[in-house]
Amino acid sequence: MGTGLTDELRARAAALLDPVVRDYYNGGSGDGQSAAEAAQAWRSYRLRPHVLRDVATVDTRTTVAGLELGLPVLAAPTALQGLAHAAAERATAQGCAAAGTIPVVSTRASLPLEQMGLAPGRWWMQLYVLQDRRTTHDLALRARDLGAAALVVTVDTPVVASRAGGRAALPREVLRVAPGIPPADSADGLGAGEQAMDVSVVDLSLLAELTGLPVWAKGVLRGDDAARLVTAGVAGLIVSNHGGRQLDGAIATAHALPEVVDAVAGRVPVLVDGGVRNGRDVLTALTLGASAVLIGRPVLWGLTVGGAAGVAAVFDDLRRDLEEQFRLCGVTSVADLRRDLLVEPTRPSPTPG
Ligand code: FNR
Repeated sequence: MGTGLTDELRARAAALLDPVVRDYYNGGSGDGQSAAEAAQAWRSYRLRPHVLRDVATVDTRTTVAGLELGLPVLAAPTALQGLAHAAAERATAQGCAAAGTIPVVSTRASLPLEQMGLAPGRWWMQLYVLQDRRTTHDLALRARDLGAAALVVTVDTPVVASRAGGRAALPREVLRVAPGIPPADSADGLGAGEQAMDVSVVDLSLLAELTGLPVWAKGVLRGDDAARLVTAGVAGLIVSNHGGRQLDGAIATAHALPEVVDAVAGRVPVLVDGGVRNGRDVLTALTLGASAVLIGRPVLWGLTVGGAAGVAAVFDDLRRDLEEQFRLCGVTSVADLRRDLLVEPTRPSPTPG
């Protein structure tokens, strides 16, 4: 999948979606700056390929937190997949399984967890810590009982940011104008209430204690926050600016990743998302020290055009493209990817704080 193919998929999905849903899926917050910069930031790195290596056999498989994956790419949590396809999160779960990867299921899903056909041990649950902590805890326990292998707490959303151009933004508004499958009338639906503004590491520890599951933090962009979370006992971190849908002007994840990787110093795995669109982006992220990446919008586009098969095709294309990148870089496996394969762009250094 070169960028051209992703662009084609995006266009095919756009032609099928109600314009309000299309804009909800593809848009960013504020002026849309962070959303627009994400993909380009991966391309600010240049590669230093090896030559004269035997690349007849290459292997994209990897293991993240004990989970075996056919490729180092997971499906990011995205709300309201019923707006893309009638089979919604069920199709995404099926497509991920076919491609050898896993979905991270959103708190704001269209279907109740019980109807997603999730394979125990082969999915993660994304949580917003809601003002009503009991609702969050109930959802975490339901996820555990259905076999979630980890909880992913999104920490970049004390409030839902206003969307670019002031378009219909919040899921509730999108649903009013473009009703798909209504959100589940259950703890994981929109009835679940609003995010808390006072989320702390104590909430993460409580969730770990309550469920016995590993708890990840999603939405980290700074080394100091990463170090604090690791000290507090998180199982892993996801470097993310929410696909440019929260703080507009937030640093591109491609540029935030090295600082977080350095601060974590191998103590827990680090994943990253935002604008990852082809094998080169995946290779760049792993070379910078990520254990894997997540993709959000491409999964929604695949889901829109082809349901479960469309989702599987997105991952299969990405795997084939990553294999080609491996060969062209003279590496044969994920373990071969080291920072010396890259030339880092010059960029303003963060002010120590
Ligand atoms: C998201 N994202 C998101 N994240 C999260 O933690 N919980 C959620 O419910 C959602 N919902 C959501 C809806 C839509 C339509 C999009 C596009 C994104 C953010 C998502 O998990 C991820 O961080 C980004 O989508 C990654 O960027 P790309 O791959 O979409 O560029």
